[in-house]
Amino acid sequence: MKTRIKELTEQLKQWNKAYYQDDAPKVSDAEYDMALRELGNLEKLYPDLAAWDSPTKRVGGTAVKEFGQVEHKQALLSLSNAFSYEELVDFHKRILKAGVENPTYILEWKIDGLTVALEYENGIFQCGATRGNGKIGENITENLRTVKTVPLTIPYKGHLVCRGEAYLPKEDFVALNRQREEAGEPVFANPRNAAAGSLRQLDSKITAKRPLAVFAYDIVDGGTDLPKTQEETLNFLSQQGFLVNPQREKIDEIAKLEELIEKKTADRQNLDYDIDGLVLKLNDFKYRELLGYTAKAPKFSIAYKFPPLEGKTTLEKIEITLGRTGILTPLGILNPITLSGSVISKVSLHNEDYLRDKDIREGDTVIIHKAGDVIPEVVRSLAAHGENRSLPFVFPHLCPVCSGEVVKFEGEVAWRCINENCPGRIKENIKHFVSKNAMDIDGLGAAIVETLLAQSLIKNVADIYELKKEDIIPLEKMGEKSADNLINAIENSKQAGFARLLFALGIPHVGVVTAGNLAEHFGSMDKLLSDIDNNEDSLWLGDIAEIGKIIADSLYQYLTLKENRNLIVKLAANGVDMNVKNLVVDASLMGKTFLFTGTLPTLKRPEAEAMVKARGGKILSGVSKNLNYLVAGEKPGSKLKKAQSLDISIFTEEEFLEYIK
Ligand code: IVH
Repeated sequence: MKTRIKELTEQLKQWNKAYYQDDAPKVSDAEYDMALRELGNLEKLYPDLAAWDSPTKRVGGTAVKEFGQVEHKQALLSLSNAFSYEELVDFHKRILKAGVENPTYILEWKIDGLTVALEYENGIFQCGATRGNGKIGENITENLRTVKTVPLTIPYKGHLVCRGEAYLPKEDFVALNRQREEAGEPVFANPRNAAAGSLRQLDSKITAKRPLAVFAYDIVDGGTDLPKTQEETLNFLSQQGFLVNPQREKIDEIAKLEELIEKKTADRQNLDYDIDGLVLKLNDFKYRELLGYTAKAPKFSIAYKFPPLEGKTTLEKIEITLGRTGILTPLGILNPITLSGSVISKVSLHNEDYLRDKDIREGDTVIIHKAGDVIPEVVRSLAAHGENRSLPFVFPHLCPVCSGEVVKFEGEVAWRCINENCPGRIKENIKHFVSKNAMDIDGLGAAIVETLLAQSLIKNVADIYELKKEDIIPLEKMGEKSADNLINAIENSKQAGFARLLFALGIPHVGVVTAGNLAEHFGSMDKLLSDIDNNEDSLWLGDIAEIGKIIADSLYQYLTLKENRNLIVKLAANGVDMNVKNLVVDASLMGKTFLFTGTLPTLKRPEAEAMVKARGGKILSGVSKNLNYLVAGEKPGSKLKKAQSLDISIFTEEEFLEYIK
């Protein structure tokens, strides 16, 4: 076991580096997860054999009541700002005036995140802190330990304190907000706030679930043998295993700076993280003392701040939209404006509290900007005090679609329509059920769902499986071919598996990840339902890893409701598979490839293939040099001959079963 634990630990560390540092993943997420899970299971059995810096230890530990304080022995300074190219030239002139000849600069992105200081002693991560007031910060070591781009060990054995910026990639910020909105929780205004909120969690398990990263860019303190230029510092940090932003420019001639700034300004939208400017740094450290410091900032570096992506327009109207979980979301209809190339005509106003706190009203002139350079957001209303404005928006207390009662649950900010039969909710639910991450029924777009509902061809998601080709052909824009394709897609979706089905049902708070965890834990809908029936409350559900009280309650409530149970029974009767797919057994076949040919004596082909996949192996579609094992049954045909000619190992079914035991 010791060697397997070691092997998995090393393997996962290498994959982590490839993924987080080199941006060149070596394996699929599924393969990674499988290895991580196998290691976790082994470590549970043999805790003494677990490495102290094991990749499994990035999932967070126990929650704390408050953060301790950390004194920064070297103050974490700030930067002076420049807002134009001319101001950068002035900075350069000051450098020349101080006596630096032919200065070389490094230009880096200014990441819009949260400064962190990372301290290493003897090659081991000791302490991680926020900047605080520059002198004293908060001790967030446990949280930073869950961030996979923070190395827990480094080759350098001397004292080292480096500085970096913690951030949440734009895409993850969007996903996190969507999830929060669905759960009725307040959304983060921008990726920076989301990163700060995630890192300042008292429970590191929550931090571990947020895909935070840290770009390292500076050495604040350490031995005298450390690099003496910014260029070497960045290379050194990268060699030590930190994530270092690969986009940086070396500038030998100030004349080139203007063009470069223009190029970077245009490029800023294409990054997957938020930035708020550039930082220009004098490369050679030997001039640092000569140049000195202001009260707060060094004189050898300067930040260039981009003008914000903002614009002014009128908020024409506030509409209420209904989501599948019944949440009522106010949507601002704007007089369209163009911000950095895209036309913005709608903006989410999130919830009643948000509207009230920002005092946004119909007819107001508002400032719009793109949070995270991606999602448009209202920064504020420009309406002056005493100005003749419309009255504050009155949030409806009836559902805009079914006119049913709406309620606000304790601890939530959202109003929800609670009528399970609300046509608006049903429509959104069906759209969700067929969507990509759910049952993935290609060809069943929003317009067709609406037509099917309008013509009463379907009333709920189970009815989808009773649709016939004849029902579909007469629909607008549907030919014979598309009807065939749609029927096929519906048929295939029956095999989507338990995890996707659980997500597809649209149970409040059960997202893709939770659905996957639940599916893996219970294995089948039957087991989940019988466990629900054998318990009188949802408390026991809370014992399942990753599931808190909110999810447990929501799941319990959904699955004890008669209408939902009937729906599940009908889905099952219509042939929807409710068992887990690719049940993960172990990772013993990781990296191995298989192909089955001919009729196997006892196993069905899909069954045999699932056994390989469940152990981390891959199924190839043809015989090639990449194939490790061909499992041949009766009448194997040409594949066997080809495999023999390539000297590939050949198994009978019996040998295969023995091999995977
Ligand atoms: S160098 C002496 N480089 O910007 C300060 N800072 O307004 C050394 N920041 O608090 C900072 N990206 O948190 C530096 N590539 C980068 C940066 C960066 C973001 C932040 C940093 C600092 C703030 C200054």
